[in-house]
Amino acid sequence: MPKKKRILSGMRPTGPLHLGNLHGALANWVQMQDQYDCFFFIADWHALTSDYEDTASISDNVKNMVIDWLSAGISYEKSTLFVQSHVKEHAELFLILSMITPVPWLERNPTYKDQIVQLDNKDLSTFGFLGYPVLQAADIIMYKANGVPVGEDQVPHVEITREITRRFNNYYEHVFPEPEAILTKTSKILGLDRRKMSKSYDNAIYMSDSPEDILAKVARMITDPQRARRNDPGNPDVCNVFEFHKLYSDKTTVNEINETCRKAAVGCVECKKIMAGNLAQTLEPIREKRKHYESQPDLVHEIIKTGTDKARKTAQQTMKEVRSAMKMY
Ligand code: TRP
Ligand code: SF4
Repeated sequence: MPKKKRILSGMRPTGPLHLGNLHGALANWVQMQDQYDCFFFIADWHALTSDYEDTASISDNVKNMVIDWLSAGISYEKSTLFVQSHVKEHAELFLILSMITPVPWLERNPTYKDQIVQLDNKDLSTFGFLGYPVLQAADIIMYKANGVPVGEDQVPHVEITREITRRFNNYYEHVFPEPEAILTKTSKILGLDRRKMSKSYDNAIYMSDSPEDILAKVARMITDPQRARRNDPGNPDVCNVFEFHKLYSDKTTVNEINETCRKAAVGCVECKKIMAGNLAQTLEPIREKRKHYESQPDLVHEIIKTGTDKARKTAQQTMKEVRSAMKMY
């Protein structure tokens, strides 16, 4: 059997994962597990690039993120799961790559400029934040990944990774393949307020939300803005709740809502209740798995340790090749 291609991707442990993450990145990862040799890791050092002042919640976020992944169907048997900061080799490779990375490549990185404007409540004029893509390059090439499943926003980082890789291979020896971005179809699911679902907008439904949380949040959802009163006919085509129905309710229900809403034969309160119930039911197996892992912290610890040990072995081998290519023994 030909060797499977290797892919690698990571997430920063900035908080619980929501439905946008579940239907976007995570669903993609779950699907790729049979076809590829997958490395998935938690980029806790990357979390420091913007949240360096308050580090108290990072380690809890790491554990919870692993549980979110496992609950969504990421398999620790098929894939290698690890934590970035537990593989110190990333820091060594980051340092070496930083020596060959021209600063202008980093300064013209679009996410660098965007984030500085968007996160204007944080001082991002740090060396580490500028160097974000260099650390990301180290993460990727450490495992000689062929592909990197990422969203559109991360494509410039993979591009910088390719440029750094070419430089390294040119200056020293050809050690690394040039990785390619594998574009993740982003989930079109919107938040409660119809903006993009995001933790920072406070408009997200989380994978770990209880049925009661879900009901309360769905009650807050914006519906057809033209439908002011119960007796006004509605238009499901412009209603976010209807989009959720399409994802979480069966065909019959979707068709029924589609008709009854237009005739004002169903009210938004009722319609939302039905959807919230179906959503909660869809998430039930995920919540069950979460309970399973939450009740066994030792198991989660063991899963992280086993994956990290495996990743470290690969990383140590790569670093040997790096030192040898650079004639620095
Ligand atoms: N920058 C990525 C994000 O914010 C996280 C990340 C860090 C990553 N290192 C990586 C993703 C390596 C893919 C490969 O989503
Ligand atoms: Fe939206 Fe349902 Fe209200 Fe129609 S009845 S506007 S689909 S919430």
